[in-house]
Amino acid sequence: MAEFERTRVREREAPVQNDYEQALKRSQERAARNATGRIVCKFDECPQMLTRQGRLRYYLAESIKDTPLQDWIVFTHEIRTVSGKHRHQGGLIIYVIEGRGYSVVDGERCDWEKGDLVLLPMREKGVEHQHFNSDPDKPSVWMAFINDHIHQYVASEMTQTEVSPEYKKAEEVAGR
Ligand SMILES: [Fe+2]
Repeated sequence: MAEFERTRVREREAPVQNDYEQALKRSQERAARNATGRIVCKFDECPQMLTRQGRLRYYLAESIKDTPLQDWIVFTHEIRTVSGKHRHQGGLIIYVIEGRGYSVVDGERCDWEKGDLVLLPMREKGVEHQHFNSDPDKPSVWMAFINDHIHQYVASEMTQTEVSPEYKKAEEVAGR
């Protein structure tokens, strides 16, 4: 085989997927998401799920790959009575969309209602918190905005200390 032909064959082969090639690929994927990712996250395409913490509807999450701004976690929480209780680092923002209720943050009751902004502070060991609905006639709903990079860089660890009663009941019904 002539030398120039061998060169052409080598050029057509896929490069070895070493760490540098993978970094290139990740960089291109991120750029593509920002160039063409969907701009609007439609309510109907974000199913609500019953989790250990409560009824969550994720708009942005690690599993959602077709949007720009992949470093954000954004979800709503519908609270009918009381959420689960957990501890993680603060630095996140909660906007109250509907209803009225309160959060207990490290033992302190903090009341809120529609239109309010609730802040989870940064503390040495994170903050333990639980959310309550105050309106017996309708649930309250808030939306959380979390920058995943901040959480990773402050080594935030999420610990569940109490499970949502609705989730607990659903698990019992399912025999788990
Ligand atoms: Fe939380």
